[in-house]
Amino acid sequence: MKRHWWKETIVYQIYPRSFQDSNGDGIGDLRGIISRIDYIASLGIETLWLCPIFKSPNDDNGYDVSDYRDIMEDFGSMEDFDELLIELKKRNLKIILDLVPNHSSDEHFWFKESKKSKDNPYRDYYYWKKPKSNGDPPTNWISYFAPSTWEFDDNTGEYYLHLFSKKQPDLNWENPKVRQEIYDIMHFWMGKGIHGFRLDVLPFISKDLSFPDKTEDNFDGNFGRFYANGPRLHEFIQEMNNEVISKYDMMTVGEGPGITPEQALDYVGENRKELHTIYHFDHMDIDRDPYDYYGYKKYSLIEFKQIVTDWDRLVDMGGWNTAFLGNHDFPRIVSRFGNDKTYRKQAAKLLCMFLMTQRGTPYIYFGDEIGMTNVPWEELGKYRDLWVFDGFEKHLKKGGKKEDFLKNLKHTSRDNARTPMQWNNKKNGGFSEGVPWIDLNPNYENVNVENAENAKDSILHFYRKMISVRKGNKTLIYGNYLDLEPLDENLFIYSRKDDSHTFLICLNFSDHCITYQSDMLNQRSDVILCNYGMRNSVSTGKIEFEPWHCLLIKISRS
Ligand code: GLC
Ligand code: CA
Repeated sequence: MKRHWWKETIVYQIYPRSFQDSNGDGIGDLRGIISRIDYIASLGIETLWLCPIFKSPNDDNGYDVSDYRDIMEDFGSMEDFDELLIELKKRNLKIILDLVPNHSSDEHFWFKESKKSKDNPYRDYYYWKKPKSNGDPPTNWISYFAPSTWEFDDNTGEYYLHLFSKKQPDLNWENPKVRQEIYDIMHFWMGKGIHGFRLDVLPFISKDLSFPDKTEDNFDGNFGRFYANGPRLHEFIQEMNNEVISKYDMMTVGEGPGITPEQALDYVGENRKELHTIYHFDHMDIDRDPYDYYGYKKYSLIEFKQIVTDWDRLVDMGGWNTAFLGNHDFPRIVSRFGNDKTYRKQAAKLLCMFLMTQRGTPYIYFGDEIGMTNVPWEELGKYRDLWVFDGFEKHLKKGGKKEDFLKNLKHTSRDNARTPMQWNNKKNGGFSEGVPWIDLNPNYENVNVENAENAKDSILHFYRKMISVRKGNKTLIYGNYLDLEPLDENLFIYSRKDDSHTFLICLNFSDHCITYQSDMLNQRSDVILCNYGMRNSVSTGKIEFEPWHCLLIKISRS
């Protein structure tokens, strides 16, 4: 297997609106990030991913870009960005930016022109279609953030396509000029000295130009599967590779809604000349009702393990994987996959151990390193995400009750992970001197960086240790992965192994105490890291698991 820095790196993702406000307007910004850069470096991560920082009217918090070459005013200026680059470089940190190639803002110059007339030179930068003969939209597609993916424009009597909100019109990748614009933008930022891109909803950029209506046969409720992997997709990505990606030593990570491991291989296979990595949604969909994305359903650890194992195959097939449990689009990981009450600390550490021992590039979403949790909000008015409000309308239309919707939001809303970073127990958790754009999670009084720095056994210190263990052991990066107990309902036990070393990762994903006997353990088994102190001896092969107990064990050869 070929070694690459982007396989060995650990990524720390920041949602800039919510990290650190520097000027008291209640919105996180670039100068705020600069002021926290030593903290970021102290984690031991090597690559920073910033959610979109380009000029935007913020219908979808920056995922609606109105100028791809400028910085969003809320976040600062290009000078601030250049300074950030310098400060990152001083600390040997790399940075990747979030690029949105599938759609722009409706306030982008291209769209404003496009709207003007049918013969405007920018008309074909977007998808414009005539109404059906009865006046209906061209297809019956549902948008992620709106009732329909089509918005009628009186001026020219046509509809334009928007898979997301109506302020996010889809760019027409069939048009070579559009593709060139995106490649030029990529060169522009690479020229500034960044190290790559996260590519937003990349599987959606090629559309089925026959624009088929969705039917019971072709649509199972999963938008991703429906909109992803269009006919010219790989041709476009190969062109992007040829024009941009192959010209730099960079890292690309595609957001991959709707893809299977086999399909993923087409994006990231070593010989495909497309992307470096892509992240999938299978474990993100695990607790969702496919017909109601705000609906919440129970899942089993066995299903979770199956997904992890299924995706690990991508590496054997000649690609590379990513390891993440959450980001700005999903709830907090300790609330979702762990336990955010009695065992919050233990569970957060266990999830960290999981992430740092996967065969794939690990992603840490800001705040997870101190065990930030979902919000306890009881009112809709606290939420800020446009998805919540569209989801609420859809829910009511189907006859749903408000209480149920609010209940589900606690498990499923993206805002759970968008509350400000909790730095200390002072005003607004140290995030802002002003009024924060979104409320803090009230638990900031206890759960905060300052407390974590001061407590020896904190989640934060555990992250630092686990990160350094991963960086110091290539086996944990490249070694083979094997799930040893796929049918156990509570324990996730797997090995990572290469010619030199064997590691056993033992994770109790439950509130119970469990005794486990392993025939792999022997006199030469050392517990490298554990979240219940180091009192465990595993030489007899027996592990007495405490709730949410995790152990990283190194087994030496005889
Ligand atoms: C991606 C982003 C999400 C955004 C959507 C539309 O899924 O991660 O935050 O809303 O694309 O751009
Ligand atoms: Ca600010």
